[in-house]
Amino acid sequence: MVRLDKYLADMGKGSRSEIKKYVKAKRVKINGEIAKSSDIKIAPDSDEIRLDECLISYEEHVYYMLNKPEGVVSATEDNLHKTVIDLIKSEDKRRGLFSMGRLDIDTTGLLIITDDGELSHRLLSPKYHVDKCYYAIVEGKVSEEDAIRVKEPLNIGSDKEPIMTLPASMDIISSSDEISEINLTICEGKFHQVKKMMAKLNHPVIKLKRVSFGAIKLDEELKPGEYRKLTNEELEMIKV
Ligand code: URA
Repeated sequence: MVRLDKYLADMGKGSRSEIKKYVKAKRVKINGEIAKSSDIKIAPDSDEIRLDECLISYEEHVYYMLNKPEGVVSATEDNLHKTVIDLIKSEDKRRGLFSMGRLDIDTTGLLIITDDGELSHRLLSPKYHVDKCYYAIVEGKVSEEDAIRVKEPLNIGSDKEPIMTLPASMDIISSSDEISEINLTICEGKFHQVKKMMAKLNHPVIKLKRVSFGAIKLDEELKPGEYRKLTNEELEMIKV
């Protein structure tokens, strides 16, 4: 059993004091009856809760797949830039939403937005290696030699303070003297990792887009800035 105001607040319908006002204004119904107070206990699994006649069903957590656009930061709050959380519509907002992992401001593509801290903690822990695939346009002609080099640890730090990468894999999609297109799959998330790896190979990144996270692939129907809920199948693929 859970308090009505907590239930509605957890479902992103406002603060507890706002919900109290909705109840007073007779906007909330429990099983078809107008709710009399906001601290009444309800059973999330069996009671039917409506706000302004809209059914508010219980979901412990939400998981959105976002196609992150350029110019938006992955942090939850930022004084200068729009954040990925600002892209979530008010009806889909929940308390405690954050992005699972970070992408740079100029990186686009797949980000998972959730309020499930436990799952995120497990998936991002250094012990648990989730493959992340990035499509990149880079300067210069990427060779098979480069693809071999990323399979071995690369030092993306300095000689004094080395930072070694774990084995990665690279597919060369196209290459010309000026630019190349590659898919690079890494299983960790060091700071600016892809940009640093490619810079180390003398192929600075021009454009970077994350195309998969674990077995989840970016839904190409999503335009930059758009998002949708993960399907149950997608969720099962990353639940550990
Ligand atoms: N590697 C980078 O360099 N930048 C990102 O945004 C993600 C991976």
